[in-house]
Amino acid sequence: MNDGGRLGPKDLRTLLGEWETGGRSAYQALADRIRLLIIDGRIPTRTRLPAERELADAIQKSRTTIVSAYRELRESGHLVSVRGSGSVVALPHAQEPPSARPQPAVIEFSKAAPTAIGGLEAVIQRAMSDVPRVLAKSGFDLVGSLVLRERIAHHYTERGLPTRPGQLMITLGAQHAIALIARTLVRQADRVLVEAPTYPHAIDAFRLSGGRLVTTPVTTSGWDGDRLRDAFERARPAVAYLVPDFQNPTGASMPPGQRDDVVRHARRAGTVLVIDETTADLDIERGWTDVPFAVRADDHHTVTIGSLAKTVWGGLRIGWIRADDDVIGALHGARAAGDLGTPELEQLVATEVFDDYTALVQRRTAQLRHHRDVLVRELRERLPHWDVPVPDGGASLWVGLGAPISSALALFGLTRGVSLTAGPKFGVDGAFERFLRLPYTGRVDELTRGVHLLADTARSLPVLPAGQAPQLADVV
Ligand SMILES: Cc1ncc(COP(=O)(O)O)c(C=O)c1O
Repeated sequence: MNDGGRLGPKDLRTLLGEWETGGRSAYQALADRIRLLIIDGRIPTRTRLPAERELADAIQKSRTTIVSAYRELRESGHLVSVRGSGSVVALPHAQEPPSARPQPAVIEFSKAAPTAIGGLEAVIQRAMSDVPRVLAKSGFDLVGSLVLRERIAHHYTERGLPTRPGQLMITLGAQHAIALIARTLVRQADRVLVEAPTYPHAIDAFRLSGGRLVTTPVTTSGWDGDRLRDAFERARPAVAYLVPDFQNPTGASMPPGQRDDVVRHARRAGTVLVIDETTADLDIERGWTDVPFAVRADDHHTVTIGSLAKTVWGGLRIGWIRADDDVIGALHGARAAGDLGTPELEQLVATEVFDDYTALVQRRTAQLRHHRDVLVRELRERLPHWDVPVPDGGASLWVGLGAPISSALALFGLTRGVSLTAGPKFGVDGAFERFLRLPYTGRVDELTRGVHLLADTARSLPVLPAGQAPQLADVV
């Protein structure tokens, strides 16, 4: 299902998950669920929805139900009729009339994006002394400045992974790195192994590259060794994308012995491991550190991604890829089709960051510890029925809701001023409706207020028979 492509009736049925409610209009519930899928990006804009008859057959509803749901979505601006193309997904921003009432500020629980770490301003001031040198050049390039790559190479070498600057490419953050790797290493219909749940934009990037996603489960307690082995043996994936440290969203870390196993499975299956270390330095209290994953594997079969987004500031848009010379060469060749390079101004700041890196990271993890504890305390107090495991690092909680209400919370939360990403966004097949990821990257007062709003939202959802999910029309 690509942007602008056609969504088949069976795919839409899978995405819809448990959408039905008992004793009320099915068309309204269906429209609400499709609207949420559009709002949170699971159905990209310009996607063509199935014809009414096809969807009616797939979900065993009357054609009238589908016609009414589509009409409702047209009225709200989420669907437009395009001659010859049927019903095409849109976002209504452009048509939306300006609201008569001022909207309350929304508490942001949908992104795990912290504000700049204290001390960054001083680092930026220091970096500015080098600005004239940068202004005298074009100020951007495809692989990144040599000094920054030297700093990062040194950092890997200190962590136990000898690295040359030539093995590094500086990117516009880790997401750019994932997208570039997907575009370069994944061919149409290649199998790509991802964790379930995982970081949603990685799912998007591998899908866009034409990869066929296969999954291996991970929970807050970690990876299932047998399922992991089976996934490599059966799917023989071309690429496996893994987040082994403080995994997003579960917070789990893969024990060293299991990392050895993964490397063995990948070698046997001929899989390239793409290891995302974006969250790897967010160690609040894990109690052990490990060498970088790539130490265990050979450089030809391991690509490592890093970023300053969580530790320092996402606004810098500085990430990087570490790989062997061939892969860096291929990425270099492919990159210009999408962008022409990383700005040197931001790279100047990033270079200075590495002088203070340990102190900045310590400040970040101390802050995250405090924010995590506040969020856990508030949730346990106000939503005692939810299962709130405490991760030993990372930037978010993966909360068990005890009922399939995640999409309903996300949908209705918006009307109460809290922005959430529904659990299914972290899976590839509509699962995780019983889970919610809650980042603790916001300010403490926002976390507290956010939990109040969340508890209000949860309370206002009707209690429905087991297995049924409430929809917006149940609660407004
Ligand atoms: C595992 C993972 N990878 C990549 C990213 C994207 O990071 P960046 O802001 O550097 O693009 C995130 C951000 O949430 C993440 O959690």
